[in-house]
Order: sequence, then structure tokens, then C-alpha cells
Amino acid sequence: MLSRTHTCGELRLEHKQQTVSLNGWVHTVRLHGQVIFIDLRDRYGKTQLVFNPDSFQGDFQVVKKLSVEDVISITGVVQSRAPGAENPRLATGEIEVLVDQLEMLNEAAPLPFQITKRESATEEFRLKYRYLELRTEELQRNLTLRHAAYQVVRRYLSEHDFLEVETPVLMKSTPEGARDYLVPSRIHKGKFYALPQSPQTYKQLLMIAGLDRYFQIVKCFRDEDLRADRQPEFTQIDIEMSFVNEDQVREVSEGLTRTVFSEVACVELPDPFPVMTYTEAMETYGTDRPDLRFELPLLDIKPFSDQSSFNAFKSVETVRGLRLPGGAKYSRKMMDELNKFVQHHHAKGLTFVKQVGGEFTGGVSKFFPPELQENMVEHFELKDGDALFMVGDTWEVALRSLGALRTELARREGLFDKNQFQPVWVIGFPMFEWDPEEERYGAMHHPFTAPQPKDISLLTSEPQKVRSRGYDLVINGYEIAGGSIRNHDPKVQQQVFNVLGIDVEEAEEKFGFLLEALTYGAPPHGGIAFGFDRLVMLLAGAENIREVIAFPKTTSALSLMDGSPSTISESQLRELGLSLIPKRKS
Ligand code: AMO
Repeated sequence: MLSRTHTCGELRLEHKQQTVSLNGWVHTVRLHGQVIFIDLRDRYGKTQLVFNPDSFQGDFQVVKKLSVEDVISITGVVQSRAPGAENPRLATGEIEVLVDQLEMLNEAAPLPFQITKRESATEEFRLKYRYLELRTEELQRNLTLRHAAYQVVRRYLSEHDFLEVETPVLMKSTPEGARDYLVPSRIHKGKFYALPQSPQTYKQLLMIAGLDRYFQIVKCFRDEDLRADRQPEFTQIDIEMSFVNEDQVREVSEGLTRTVFSEVACVELPDPFPVMTYTEAMETYGTDRPDLRFELPLLDIKPFSDQSSFNAFKSVETVRGLRLPGGAKYSRKMMDELNKFVQHHHAKGLTFVKQVGGEFTGGVSKFFPPELQENMVEHFELKDGDALFMVGDTWEVALRSLGALRTELARREGLFDKNQFQPVWVIGFPMFEWDPEEERYGAMHHPFTAPQPKDISLLTSEPQKVRSRGYDLVINGYEIAGGSIRNHDPKVQQQVFNVLGIDVEEAEEKFGFLLEALTYGAPPHGGIAFGFDRLVMLLAGAENIREVIAFPKTTSALSLMDGSPSTISESQLRELGLSLIPKRKS
């Protein structure tokens, strides 16, 4: 191999006349009479190579056989490109290398898809050949950005006295609300480790151990339904601090976020970030992760719909609406699509009226008499050409389905700037969520979250009214981070477990080690965890976390490249003391 003197992104006019060696992949091949032009590519960029039979010193037949993705090594002389042939889009666009020696390092077999046109292959196919897709400029840029973000995070937290500590991957289950990935123990047959859904218990133990400020960039594993911003294994920036309240955790987290955005993406975020309560977020935006890049607030229609003759709205708990400027242009087909959209979000359906020529038309307008229409026009400041979308349902369903519709309409109408970033803290969450199927309360954050001190007395009487000391950081509608101040008092911790239906015995069995640790001098503590992949996704301007993960899984948790999960042999099963239940014939 001709040892490289430069990378493919390095050469400039100042290197003119120098003899250089480059290594890389053949990106493109162009023939120009007898002369062959090749763009040679590596992680750093591309350089144009010129193979001229008059000056080339080897067998020109080898050059003629070169094809895309062959790995080669060359030596040649840097020269300026002919006037008019410069490429201003390429950093090396003013020069080219006139090649005199070529060494073929590895001939590439015909590729399963064209690297330069990755969209032409299906995503499944690209994931199977992810190492080829990773050769694209876009994904290499994303991984470079991810690398930069790791460095900024480590530096920032280290400068703020945080210690990076690794915690076990084989551990006891932590209740973060998803199913665990389990690992059977060979030595202790019938027993299982759980892969961490987060290092929650360990980081609290590190506070009890007196480490004061901890962080870790750590893999977490959750067996849950996947979405564009969810992977079964993902990375957190996990943080815990002692002797702090909510404001102090938020201050450090804001500082970290601002620094990462500024240093990695040259984006200056507001200082401080706005703060909103859970109720405010739900009532105004129909979600606890509002996208504040656009307005489109939810409107309370109930006082008006109760005066209409539209009976379906009279019997429901909540009627909310959305005013979409210009929405009157929406066709019946589009309305049908939007109807299906809200149904997908559990609403019974979407109704609407259009404001055209000073009156309501279409949809359910006939149920709204003229005087009521006038009142609504005035109250909701309806303009000609607007559409008013409405959903009547339970509070939760009406708000959440309209919240989803709000984002969908904004996307369709291009109501936000993709390059803008709008952070917001959401606080004052309820401690518990009622699960109607299981008929019990679940923790809205996780069971170690502390209740607000003034609500502790409600734990036994009205748990649904207890608010937590949890906080979420939301940017552009994505939950980027979540955390809380913890229960450092074991008595309050047990009260919380009681509401969750975890009695003393079960608590002892599941988290006895933590509960005992809390009795040996636990400092007040709290923390937060950032979804690192989501953060990098935003920084990269991507819409799926797969774009910023080197080897992601599909939405059904498959790794198409190595074929995992895969079966294991009978002998491995026996060794683990396991046997598979035969599949039932359908
Ligand atoms: P939480 O469960 O909110 O909190 O997780 C923290 C952040 O991790 C990200 N996240 C995910 N990212 C990708 N794929 C997933 N499946 C996924 N699940 C979560 C989100 C989320 O905000 N131990 C607590 C933190 C604490 O209390 O300090 C925890 O894990 O961005």
C-alpha cells in the first residue's frame, strides 16, 4: 500500500506541484476520451484524480477496470484544475491529482445498492447493508456530529464536577415502565438478570455513597413499542446530583443543552428556557411535550357546543377545537383523512365547520344557529377562510387527539421552521396515572420520584391529585430529557409504593437494597436523563433516531445485518436450564 500523505479532503491550491499519496474508495468514474476521472473518497472528503495514459506509469488496463467502491491507493502530482473546471461545492474543488502510480487494495463486488443514491433502496435493504449505507456523506456527518456531542457533554459535565462512573449492565430490573430484556443465568439456573432500562437505582446508590455528582453516557434497554424516536437499545446522558432541588438540576441541564447546541450546531438557545406546567401544556397544546415553534392553541368549544343542536357533543365530558387559518380550502377527502387521523388517536371522530362568506359551512354547521355562530366568530376570532376542527370525548382523548392533530396540521401547512429550536420545561406532573385495564395506579415518571411536599398528605386520601417533583425537557415536541427529585426518606418511598400497589414485602423483594441504603444516611438528591440519540437527531436535523445510530434496529427490534435475535442451540438451552414452549398450532 502506498502510505497516504494526505486525506481525500485535505489538498488545496497551496499543495500544487507536490507529489502526494492518497487512499480511499472510488466514488465515481468518468471517461473523457482516453483520460479517466475518478473522485476518490474517504471520511474527510473527495479528491478528483486524473488518469492520463500519457503520464500514468503502470498498466492502464487496470485503471480502465476500476469501478465504484474499489479501494485503491495512488501517488500523483497535485495540479490546479483547468479554468472553468473548478468545483466550488467541493473543498478540494480547485485541484486535482494527476496520477502516476495505482495500487488496487481491494476490488469491490457489484454493490447491492448505489451509495450515491441511498434513497433508491428500501430501508430494510439499507439496514441489512448498514456498513455500506454508513459510507454516505450524510450518515458520516451524523456520526461525526454525535462524536462532537459526546465530547462536549463529557467536557461540560467534567468541568462542573461530575464524575463519570460506569454501572452494571447485568442487573436487577428497574421499573421505568417498559418490559425488561432478560438474560438467563447459567450458574444460577432459573434466575435472570435484567438489562438496565436505565441506571436509576445505581445512580441513587452513588449519591448515598457520597459521590455528589455523577454522570454516564450509557446504553439502556427497553422492550417497548418502537417509533421514530424510540429504539430498543438507546443511549442516555444520565445525571444525578446530591443536595439539590429542581431548579439546580434544571440549571445544570439547561447549561449542558445550551452548550451542546452552541458548540455542535452553532445554535444559541434561549436563556433561561421557558417553564410550563403539565396542566397548561395539556390544556393549551393537548400534549405534555408541546412543540412551541408554532401557536395553534386548543380552544374550549364546550360552552358553545352545549348551545348547539349537535347532541353528540352534549353528552361528552370535553369538547375542544383548533382554528386553522385557511383551513376552509380543505377538501372532503382531506377531512376524511384527518378524521381517520384522530380516530387513530382514539377519538370517535373529527367534526368541523368552515367560515366562508361570514357564515359556517360544511361539516356540522347546520347545528349551530346564526347567533351562536356570531358568538363563536367573535370569541375565537374566526376569520373568513378558517376551519374550526372539533373533537368531543373524554378530557384525555379530546385533548390528546387534538394535540396530535395540531402537530399534523402544522406539518401539512408548514407552520414551523425546521431550523428553529424551542426548548420548554414541563413541570408539575401528576405522580400517578390510573391504568383502567389493570385497575391500578402506575407511576407517571418512575416510583423513586418524590411527591411535591405540600401534596404528601394526599398520598393516602387522593393520590390522583398528588403532583410530583418531576420535570421533562421538551424541544420541538420531542421529550429530550426527564428526571426528578427523589424520595430520600424511606417512609415516603414506601407510601408511594403503597399507592402503586407494591406492599412492603414486594418492595423488599424488588428494591430492598435501595430501601435499606436510604436508611443509612441518604442525602437529598435528584437527577435527569437525556435521550442522547434524540438530542443528536435534533442537532442533525434528522427525523428518525436511526439516522444518528450506527447500527440501529428495525421497528420490530430486528437487526437485519447480523440477523439477531436468533435461535440458540439445544445444548445452550440445556446449559441455561431453559426449554422452549412449543408454538401452538393455529
Ligand atoms: P426516562 O424514562 O424519561 O427517564 O428516559 C430519559 C430519556 O431517555 C429517552 N428515551 C428513549 N430514547 C430512545 N429510545 C427509547 N426507547 C427511549 N426511552 C426513553 C427520552 C427520555 O426523556 N431514570 C430516568 C431518568 C431520571 O429520573 O433521572 C429515565 O430513564 O429522551
